[in-house]
Amino acid sequence: MYQQVLRSYTISLFLCLGAVALFSCKPRNQEAVTPDQGAYTLNAPKYFGSYTIPSDNPVTKAGVKLGRNLFYEKKLSLDNSISCGSCHVQKNAFSDPNRLSAGVNGLLGKRNAMALSNLMWQKDFFWDGRAKSLEEQALMPIKDAHEMQETLENVVLKLKNDPLYPPLFQQAFGVEEITSDKIAKAIAQFERTLISGNSVYDRYLTKKYIANANEINGMNLFFTHPDASTGLRGANCGDCHSGNLTYSFDFKNNGLDTDSGMLDFGLQGFSLKSSDRGKFKIPSLRNIALTAPYMHDGRFATLEEVLDHYNEHIAQSTTLDPLIINATNEFGGTALKLTTQEKKDVIAFLKMLTDTSFVTNPEFSDPFVK
Ligand code: HEC
Ligand code: HEC
Repeated sequence: MYQQVLRSYTISLFLCLGAVALFSCKPRNQEAVTPDQGAYTLNAPKYFGSYTIPSDNPVTKAGVKLGRNLFYEKKLSLDNSISCGSCHVQKNAFSDPNRLSAGVNGLLGKRNAMALSNLMWQKDFFWDGRAKSLEEQALMPIKDAHEMQETLENVVLKLKNDPLYPPLFQQAFGVEEITSDKIAKAIAQFERTLISGNSVYDRYLTKKYIANANEINGMNLFFTHPDASTGLRGANCGDCHSGNLTYSFDFKNNGLDTDSGMLDFGLQGFSLKSSDRGKFKIPSLRNIALTAPYMHDGRFATLEEVLDHYNEHIAQSTTLDPLIINATNEFGGTALKLTTQEKKDVIAFLKMLTDTSFVTNPEFSDPFVK
């Protein structure tokens, strides 16, 4: 961990040297951290790989404390009725068990709230990737007409008048002054601590858990692209939900709708390219057994329905991903064609991605509920 942080420090030092001719260059911590505030120790398995933290927003204990309060602060919404935590519920791995989330006045948005974990290893946020950093993302729900419906000016005012906040901002940023920029930074710091790396699968990877035959078979299927000509069986999930994080930086059309059946164009709505029609962020599948319903519109209630989708109900469309088109376990086949038992085994593997300690960690819980 320290090595990774050190590496990014070294990189930022080089960037600083490069930029010194253009900008005055301060050591990254000087602005944001006062000497009495310790860095927050981010514990993640080594095999999650390296991550970057923006140089102007290091994760500190005081920043995370403030961010956690803000994440659960209902004053961020117009009528003080909902917080980020209303739609991102810890016991559901910070997703919403409702198909669509209710914002202020019960207004429904058009998409299912995404689970939040291991966000430091992700690059684009929202189903259509329209936010490029956690800092940028954090203020969007506040202003969203279907979510918190509040102005940043009002939020700043409400927090200034709440005796809880000026001291928390002072501790986190060295000054009492409250700005929307600091609100975003603190929330992003808290979100970076939401690391889920203690699932059954992690315990298997670190040899603390012995997987049963179904789980092993499911795991192998999950990470294998099938080749019917050699009899290699696979479910090709890992083509997109890759590696230990079950995530890759990309947007794909996974065959939910035909061209004419698409109600939500996903990435196209943001990129404005028709070649992006129906492509959505590849979500991580960590804690997936806790985050039903599934897909951007929450159309599937169970993992069984998800498996049936990939196995036998892929909808053809012009942007359907080639990795899905090519994946079949039957010579000359046009669908994935897993057996009923194989589908069950893939689900047994998906259940290994549940991390009970993550969803019960008191450090991530609502500080206003005692
Ligand atoms: C009314 C429900 C609701 C509230 C309140 C809400 N969210 Fe969300 N959140 C969603 C939905 C729905 C999405 C997916 C929206 C989309 O893709 O257009 C989402 C997506 C996200 C994502 C993107 C995750 C990813 O993997 O790309 C993050 C991060 C996030 N929310 C954080 C927050 C924070 C921080 C707050 C509070 C400031 C917040 N949310 C408040 C419903 C909500
Ligand atoms: C071509 C890439 C690709 C492949 C292959 C793929 N997925 Fe997905 N998966 C996606 C994308 C993209 C989404 C989000 C789609 C959406 O909501 O519109 C998704 C969504 C999901 C979801 C819902 C996640 C959530 O948070 O709602 C589950 C569960 C899932 N996939 C499981 C699987 C399984 C199991 C397999 C293998 C049988 C698989 N995927 C194969 C790209 C892929």
